[in-house]
Amino acid sequence: MKKSILSFILLLYVFSINAQTKLPAYLDLNQPIEVRIKDALSRMTLEEKVGLCTAESKFSTHGVPRLGIPELWMSDGPHGIRMEIMWDSWNHAGWTNDSCTAFPALTCLAASWNPEMAHLYGKSIGEEARYRHKDVLLGPGVNIYRTPLNGRNFEYFGEDPYLTSKMVVPYIQGVQANGVSACIKHYMLNNQEKWRGNIDVELSDRALHEIYLPAFKAAVTKGKVWSVMGSYNKIRGQYACENELTLMKILKGEWGFDGCVISDWGAAHDTKNAALNGLDIEMGSWTNGFSSNRANAYKNYYLADPYLKMLQSGEIPVSNVDEKAARILRLIFRTAMNQNKPFGSFAGPDHFDVCRRISEQGIVLLKNSAGLLPIDKSRYKTIAIIGENATRSLTEGGGSSELKPKYEISSLQGLTEKFGADKIKYAMGYASGKVEYDKVNPSPYDAAIIRKEAVDLAAKSDLVIFVGGLNKNSQQDCEGADRITYSLPFEQNELISELLKVNKNVILVMLSGNAYEMPWISKATTLVQAWYGGSESGHAIANVLSGNVNPSGKLPFTFGVKLGDYGSHSFGIIAYPGDSIKEIYKEDILVGYRWFDTKKIKPLFPFGYGLSYTTFSYGKPSLSSSSMTATDSITVSVKVKNTGKVDGFEIVQMYITDEKSSLPRPEKELKGFQKIWLSPGEEKRVNFTIKKDALSFFDDKKHEWVAEPGTFKVLIGASSADIRGTEKFTLNELH
Ligand code: BGC
Repeated sequence: MKKSILSFILLLYVFSINAQTKLPAYLDLNQPIEVRIKDALSRMTLEEKVGLCTAESKFSTHGVPRLGIPELWMSDGPHGIRMEIMWDSWNHAGWTNDSCTAFPALTCLAASWNPEMAHLYGKSIGEEARYRHKDVLLGPGVNIYRTPLNGRNFEYFGEDPYLTSKMVVPYIQGVQANGVSACIKHYMLNNQEKWRGNIDVELSDRALHEIYLPAFKAAVTKGKVWSVMGSYNKIRGQYACENELTLMKILKGEWGFDGCVISDWGAAHDTKNAALNGLDIEMGSWTNGFSSNRANAYKNYYLADPYLKMLQSGEIPVSNVDEKAARILRLIFRTAMNQNKPFGSFAGPDHFDVCRRISEQGIVLLKNSAGLLPIDKSRYKTIAIIGENATRSLTEGGGSSELKPKYEISSLQGLTEKFGADKIKYAMGYASGKVEYDKVNPSPYDAAIIRKEAVDLAAKSDLVIFVGGLNKNSQQDCEGADRITYSLPFEQNELISELLKVNKNVILVMLSGNAYEMPWISKATTLVQAWYGGSESGHAIANVLSGNVNPSGKLPFTFGVKLGDYGSHSFGIIAYPGDSIKEIYKEDILVGYRWFDTKKIKPLFPFGYGLSYTTFSYGKPSLSSSSMTATDSITVSVKVKNTGKVDGFEIVQMYITDEKSSLPRPEKELKGFQKIWLSPGEEKRVNFTIKKDALSFFDDKKHEWVAEPGTFKVLIGASSADIRGTEKFTLNELH
């Protein structure tokens, strides 16, 4: 036979094999995702579609086994990949290969004011999720810091919607580049833990749109997040997971969200409301699917058999489940069935390095008036390290963000490595109880005895480093309950006051995710806010205290002098914590510095504040034009110079003030920031672009964002209270 005939027969053979084995469209990666979804749906029974909508274990959903469509596996979030949890209970599964990298808490990331760090964080945690075969990372959280009592503030990005939005978008992009979905939470108005399961939040449209929605909106419209977690609380009378306004109108309507709404664990309450008002996947309603208690079976979830029955009877149209199943398939194709995702990696040196760098960039130097920092090691023969937080694990506890890290460097360890074991002595000074979710355990120590021991040690040491703050116990920085006081716990104020009396060289290093009262502040010369730094916390702290790293973090929320100084605590219990049924956000749009500035209340430390080991001078800001219209923009330009002796980052901030407006506006609002690196003597020009959105407010009558023509001020500063230059410009009417 001729060669050409032979090859033709071969080709026919190959074609025929291909024809026989042709992939169904939903498995064909060359097909557009929407075609694949449509094809999969056309092959599924009603029962299979309904099956997609609920959990089949604590952290997984049903797939469609008959079609080879796998389940979704989820994991907390947001600071590391949580240890494996038992199939049907909250108990730890006791695996030995799930010890992760504990990344810094999100308040620390926020304090870095560095979107590049947020991207690196997302990329790295996404790689860990991927390695552990997780499809959905339950985080990050972007609830706004409304009260310093909220037990979960450490899991969020602080009080400002602009800063939060800028940080969350790169985090999401980093995670999702791994074929792992970020799940932005807790949507929404879950701004406290007390009564989180039922409290009904009432607030104005302005507060909703100007303060609480923007970070979620940025996550959806800019970050293109693939899933959103509905919260426990009610919003204007309806549960957040069954909320027509926030889920149907805003999220899926106005923002065009094409992903899945996943309930917080146990946040669904009613089949019809959940089905019709936007919930796609119901998780954690109850467990024990395999116990003798049949009533607790997964099949009895609101979106399981009860939902199927309503679809079969016609009470709910079948189009409703088609829509949900399409969203869930989209999520599965983007994650579990994504053939192009990388393999990921887990708890390796590169991730620990990321952890240390973010932790270092988030540490905020609040006070350094005696020049104790950076520590000149040659000046001290003896260093006393005091405080329980210097040795305590702060990745354990806290609720669902608890982690089992491969390692966690304590402050004592980091400081001992840095300054030498021969110089260092440790005393606990104060003590809390064993960490437990939902329960406050008493300390096993006699407070007076351990305090005296620490004060005696401090008195005879050359330098004292106190490491205290909050911890992850219930009623501290922990899910499920709020703090009960603004004060530091475990009699730390008494201890700190005594330390300050017996030694003039005291450095206070505070680890927390929240602000607290500082009755001793006028006596303290040196204060560092070091958050929860995760695995590399102790190294990061030691690097900053020693001067190997110049601190560059700035506060993502205001430290008030006292609790009553916060807007949320200025209107009685109805504004916080509510009357157990309802809560009204009476401070309205004046959250955080917006309240302190507008009401002229001097904070202890303002939003955006943080010192450095070097100094920066700011030039006079200049504007590209003295006027603009709603369709163009103005560039603000300012020169910033490192006038000190060491390299360092400065975070240059831009705030806008509306001089006159038809509706009340805050004194000023953050609308731009840049973190720049400068060597000694170096000067850089920083540019900000001002567009209409930086000038707008939400007009609740017109129900739209409005920029009113008139005069505006642009303020360039090193913090919200340290404005270095101001210029005016006008927004002209469009003709
Ligand atoms: C928390 C969520 C968490 C979920 C799963 C809930 O109690 O509010 O943030 O992702 O549990 O652990």
